[in-house]
Amino acid sequence: MGLRWLWALLLALPGAWGDCQQPPRFVFAEPPVPLEESYAVGTSLTYRCRPGYRVASGKSPRVTCLPTSLWSAESPDFCIGKSCGPPDIMNGRFHTETNLLFGARITYSCNIGYRLVGQPSAQCVLKDNEIFWSNIPICASIHCSAPPVIENGQFSNGDRDFTFGMAVTYRCNKDFVLIGHPVIYCTVMNDNVTGTWSSAAPECKVVQCENPEVKNGRRLSGFGTEHTYKDTVMFECNPGHLLNGSSVVICEADNTWKPSLPTCDPIHCGPAPQFPFAEGERAVGDSSLAGTTLKYRCKPGYTTASGKSSVVTCLSNRTWSADPDFCIQQECAPPTIENGDVIAANFLFGTVVTFMCHTGYELKVSSAKCVVSGNGVDWDTAPPYCERQLPSVQCMEPPTIDNGMHNGTKGTSFVQGSTVVYQCKDGFTLAGAATLHCEADNLLRGVWSNPAPECRGGANMIIVGIFPVLLAMLVTNV
Ligand SMILES: *[C@@H]1O[C@H](CO)[C@@H](O)[C@H](O)[C@H]1NC(C)=O
Ligand SMILES: *[C@@H]1O[C@H](CO)[C@@H](O)[C@H](O)[C@H]1NC(C)=O
Ligand SMILES: *[C@@H]1O[C@H](CO)[C@@H](O)[C@H](O)[C@H]1NC(C)=O
Ligand SMILES: *[C@@H]1O[C@H](CO)[C@@H](O)[C@H](O)[C@H]1NC(C)=O
Repeated sequence: MGLRWLWALLLALPGAWGDCQQPPRFVFAEPPVPLEESYAVGTSLTYRCRPGYRVASGKSPRVTCLPTSLWSAESPDFCIGKSCGPPDIMNGRFHTETNLLFGARITYSCNIGYRLVGQPSAQCVLKDNEIFWSNIPICASIHCSAPPVIENGQFSNGDRDFTFGMAVTYRCNKDFVLIGHPVIYCTVMNDNVTGTWSSAAPECKVVQCENPEVKNGRRLSGFGTEHTYKDTVMFECNPGHLLNGSSVVICEADNTWKPSLPTCDPIHCGPAPQFPFAEGERAVGDSSLAGTTLKYRCKPGYTTASGKSSVVTCLSNRTWSADPDFCIQQECAPPTIENGDVIAANFLFGTVVTFMCHTGYELKVSSAKCVVSGNGVDWDTAPPYCERQLPSVQCMEPPTIDNGMHNGTKGTSFVQGSTVVYQCKDGFTLAGAATLHCEADNLLRGVWSNPAPECRGGANMIIVGIFPVLLAMLVTNV
């Protein structure tokens, strides 16, 4: 800026070198009067700030004539505008892009709820040597129209001014319910200038919803028969039914329940389950209502497992519930066998046990099965037994005797139990046991039960033997 006015002076005043001509003119300051035709080199003029301006702090208002015949200010812009100060605006604000000094422009705005009355901008101006803002508008409170009058109700706050921020409260007459917001506020529209109410005025109405009934369900709350605005009713379905919809409904302003009343739809399970170990006590069809229970009976050979239920229930997730393995196999009494062992993992119904005899014994029944018997279970065969196995005991050939013989055939083997019978030749008498059995002794060796008999007699013996016969003949022949 300084350089520019220097050049301007040079072009404007190409006068003689040496003296300075007219001192420079400034918007903000004026030279001392009276002005002279010319000024000698080295002359310093002290300027006076024009009205509205003051000497800038730290700057000199002196301008000096240089030997080049040009005026030089020690510091440019040595006067600055005075400040108008912040304008006093109630309920509003001002905005400036520069400063608040003489010549500055500002704009005004009002706080929310206030409307600007007057010019929205101003300038810091000079009049009668005073500076001030050319215009200070006012921010006037925004008003709302009187609140709406409603039927069957009134609002509080009577006949006053309704300014921004003010609230009115509506109340309904007896037997009428208030629908909407009971309190409305005076606020402004989007233009920030026009007053308006925060919402529509509420309504006062008679609201009556019909007594709600849900088939296959019952109420948990809201038992009365009269239902008005915002009354709630809570439902629950009867067992075996599924609630479809909302369990809670509210009586709304249009005299209907919202959401609409729920339904209680029956839940069905498919055919009852089948078990290899039990059967139902009664027949149920292919479809049973949830909650249906069916008692099962254990099949023969099975008995109810302790602590388990034999009742199967149709659940609300459409499945049948059952304790797993509620019937267990009955158990046969453990079989005993003398001189042998039982081979089996268990004695449960259906199990086949086998037996093994100790050495020297022979098995007579090889296995037994645990089967149904009466109300319980038992082994299907008589108890097995192990019979003593007879070792092969053989006797020597029966001894031969004089004057007699036995009926054993030479060359045959005489096993235990074999019998031979001795007989004497005619005229000889057998002494001792005629019959011998082949037996086993303590060491299981074959021995004959008796020593062989003898055949006694010959001629002497015939006399001895015949004499009583002759005697008898004599006696009888007489
Ligand atoms: C109204 O005032 C708000 C907040 O002061 C502002 O954000 C909005 O731009 C203003 N609207 C108008 C139309 O002036
Ligand atoms: C519930 O009811 C609605 C309307 O009555 C029906 O469209 C829908 O299928 C039902 N839902 C079930 C899971 O039954
Ligand atoms: C049905 O419900 C029972 C008990 O709540 C549960 O144990 C079973 O897993 C459910 N079955 C299915 C198929 O969801
Ligand atoms: C010898 O006779 C008796 C009696 O008649 C008979 O029991 C036995 O078997 C017979 N013995 C032999 C080896 O034939």
